[in-house]
Amino acid sequence: MIDLLNNKVHDELRQGEAFAPFTEDPNAYRKRFYIESYGCQMNFADSEIVASILQDSGFGATRNSEEADLIFLNTCSIREKAEQTIRKRLTEFRKQKIAKPGTLVGVLGCMAERLKSKLLEEEKLVDMVVGPDAYRSLPALIEEAEGGQKAVNVLLSRDETYADISPVRLESNGINGYVSIMRGCNNMCSFCVVPFTRGRERSRDAVSIVNECRDLFERGFRDLTLLGQNVDSYYWHDEVNNETVTFAGLLELTAMISPLLRIRFSTSHPKDITDDVLHTMAKHDNICKYIHLPVQSGSTRILQLMNRTYTREWYLAKVDRIRQILPGCGISSDFIAGFCTETEEDHQDTLSLMEYSQYDLSYMFFYSERPGTLAHRRYKDDVPMDIKKRRLQEIVALQNKLSLDSNRRDLGKTFRVLIEGDSKRSPHDWMARTGENKVIVFSKKGSSLNKGDYADVTVTDCTKATMIGTII
Ligand code: SAH
Ligand code: SF4
Ligand code: F3S
Repeated sequence: MIDLLNNKVHDELRQGEAFAPFTEDPNAYRKRFYIESYGCQMNFADSEIVASILQDSGFGATRNSEEADLIFLNTCSIREKAEQTIRKRLTEFRKQKIAKPGTLVGVLGCMAERLKSKLLEEEKLVDMVVGPDAYRSLPALIEEAEGGQKAVNVLLSRDETYADISPVRLESNGINGYVSIMRGCNNMCSFCVVPFTRGRERSRDAVSIVNECRDLFERGFRDLTLLGQNVDSYYWHDEVNNETVTFAGLLELTAMISPLLRIRFSTSHPKDITDDVLHTMAKHDNICKYIHLPVQSGSTRILQLMNRTYTREWYLAKVDRIRQILPGCGISSDFIAGFCTETEEDHQDTLSLMEYSQYDLSYMFFYSERPGTLAHRRYKDDVPMDIKKRRLQEIVALQNKLSLDSNRRDLGKTFRVLIEGDSKRSPHDWMARTGENKVIVFSKKGSSLNKGDYADVTVTDCTKATMIGTII
């Protein structure tokens, strides 16, 4: 493992990272691109890879879509509403295209992959449709589109990880960084479109990951999140050193870069998170004690229909295990209300599972049927919308209570927090984060700290979303 940390073999892969990609000068580049991102953090991370590929081909980035010659939307298909938002945005860009002929519009990401060339028929203003594994072909596709043709590449790959591409950090605060460690997903949760839009699971070269993290640390980043749809199944075999790196191993490698660098990860599938990972977290102070462990439902019958491969009891035992090995660890979850055939009793099971797990935070949705998924083919979307929404509301209300309870339990405790910047409310206060992923605000008065510094802060007050503290 130490060998891997010091391995310079692939060092040349990640040079030339750019952190100030935006340009005011319209003549500095042959054309300027604008990119807007939707969906998960992985999609945002992909936009930074796209920006890097475009920059290497001589295009400059702009924050103002009206100044752009190329407009890209990096899209999400996870729920119907996500796609509706993007279609609405496309209508707005139609006006701009009319006002400024020659502007090219490209749809990237999951919606491009799901709809393929059908998107060109449905949305006449779209010039390019590019799936998540086809970004290397963007410069060629732009050329095609410049020649007046519609350009499409939605080929999925079994091995593309963009390991050698240095992402251009687009909207970064310079403290929190996101590093993709794998792509795709091999789980077939019956509600989920991701395996169809992102393809087969593949892990990125561990050396390139560690190098990217080290590089970010050297540039001042202090809190890095390792990203994947299912990080616990990370697996990479290093041919050079004949070493295998599991997710626990990767966590350790990145944690050893510096004690001043915090490491997080997202997302864990409950079936895959191992004791090995939990013990590695316990061993290193700088691996944040926070796990996003999406359960989706508290009913074993629904979990089975969802193809999540665990039962309610199995999941709760996992929560117990986390609390046992990592006392005080933050745990959050995702929920889907109103999945096919869900009864009132199933819903009550979800609420009681929430009470038991005492989540600090949750992301909550009502079920949205996605074309082509297992659930769409096999089951009827038979819970009426008003019931879905009512159940979702009950889940949200309970989570609000649990979040407040969780913050209240921290009153009087002292945390080592990392300062991320000014508080949104006042430039006289800092906004910082605990390892457990809670946001805390405290006065700058009486200390000379900076963004990126650590501080010990005692919690004096809280709402359900924020803790308020004083520095000690
Ligand atoms: N890989 C992650 C989840 C990625 S999608 C995991 O396995 O947990 C993020 C969340 O969106 C999911 O956890 C789920 O709660 C929600 N989601 C996915 N498909 C959905 C659908 N069809 N309708 C409603 N919510 C959905
Ligand atoms: Fe979707 Fe399941 Fe894969 Fe998560 S693990 S991305 S929910 S298929
Ligand atoms: Fe959305 Fe694709 Fe992510 S569907 S949630 S952008 S993997």
